[in-house]
Amino acid sequence: MRVLVTGASSGIGEAFARWHAARGDALVITGRSAEQLQRVAVDLRSAGATVQIVVVDLATAAGVDSLVAQAGDIDVVVANAGITHAATVGTTDREELDRLSYLMSTGVVRLCESLVPAMLQRGRGEVVVVSSIAAFTPMRKAGPYAAAKSAVTAYARSLALEVGSKGVRVVAVCPGYVHTDLHRRAGLEHLTTNLPEWMWLEPDDVVRDTRRALARGKTVVVPGLVYRLVRPFLASSLTQGVWRRMTRR
Ligand SMILES: NC(=O)c1ccc[n+]([C@@H]2O[C@H](COP(=O)([O-])OP(=O)(O)OC[C@H]3O[C@@H](n4cnc5c(N)ncnc54)[C@H](OP(=O)(O)O)[C@@H]3O)[C@@H](O)[C@H]2O)c1
Repeated sequence: MRVLVTGASSGIGEAFARWHAARGDALVITGRSAEQLQRVAVDLRSAGATVQIVVVDLATAAGVDSLVAQAGDIDVVVANAGITHAATVGTTDREELDRLSYLMSTGVVRLCESLVPAMLQRGRGEVVVVSSIAAFTPMRKAGPYAAAKSAVTAYARSLALEVGSKGVRVVAVCPGYVHTDLHRRAGLEHLTTNLPEWMWLEPDDVVRDTRRALARGKTVVVPGLVYRLVRPFLASSLTQGVWRRMTRR
C-alpha cells in the first residue's frame, strides 16, 4: 500500500509513519523541515520501508496542489499536519488565521477531494483525519483552532457516509493532550508541567486507537480511555473551571 502521512516529521504523524513502515507500506511523508524529514526517513528506511519525502507548506493552496501532484496514487492518507493555537479573541493577525484555517481545515478537505476519487476507482482506501477533542469541546482562547477541527471532523463524518460502502474507510481521530512538540512550538510549554500526567497520551496510543476504530468501522474516535470517560462532562461549567485553572500560566 502507498501511504501519505502529512506532518510526519514529528509527533503523531511520525508515529503513524512508523506504524505503516513496520507493515511494509511505501510511504510519502511531508513537512516543512527537510532536515527533520530526512531523520525520520532514515529510520523508516532502516525498517525496510520505501520513503518519498515531500517538503511542503500545507497552509497554502499552492502547497496542497504541489503535494497532490508529487504524491501520485495514494491508498491511505493520514491528514495530520497541524499546529495548536491559543490567543485572546482579536489578537491574531489575519494572515495567521487564514493559514491556520487552510492547514487544518480547507487544505485537508482539498487534499481528500483530490485523493479519494482514485481510491473509489480502486474500490479500496483509507482516510485518517487527525482532528482534536476541540471539535466537540469548547476551549477558551482557542476558537479558530476549535472551528478548524470541528469543520474537518464534520467533513470526515460526511465523507465516511458517502464512501464507506464503496471500500474507502474514513475516520476522524480526536485526541486530547498528546506528548509531542506541539505545545512547546506554540509557546504553551507550561501545559506540560501544569497538567497531570494522566491527561497525556503518547503518539502511539493515538495510532493504536485509530487503527482499532478503523477495524471496527467507527468514523469518529477519541483516543484513550480517560478521554472517552470524561468526554460527556468536558463542556460542563465545573469541568471548564477546573480546566481553566490547570491551563493558566
Ligand atoms: N499533541 C496534541 O496534544 C494534539 C491534540 C489534539 C490534536 N492534535 C493534532 O495532531 C496533529 C499533529 O500534531 P502533533 O501533536 O504531532 O505536533 P507536532 O509534533 O508539532 O507535529 C506537527 C506536524 O505538522 C507539520 N506542520 C505544521 N505546520 C505545517 C505546515 N504549515 N505545513 C506543513 N506541515 C506542517 C510539522 O512539520 P514542520 O514543522 O516541519 O512543517 C509536523 O510534522 C495536528 O493536526 C494537531 O492539531 C495534537
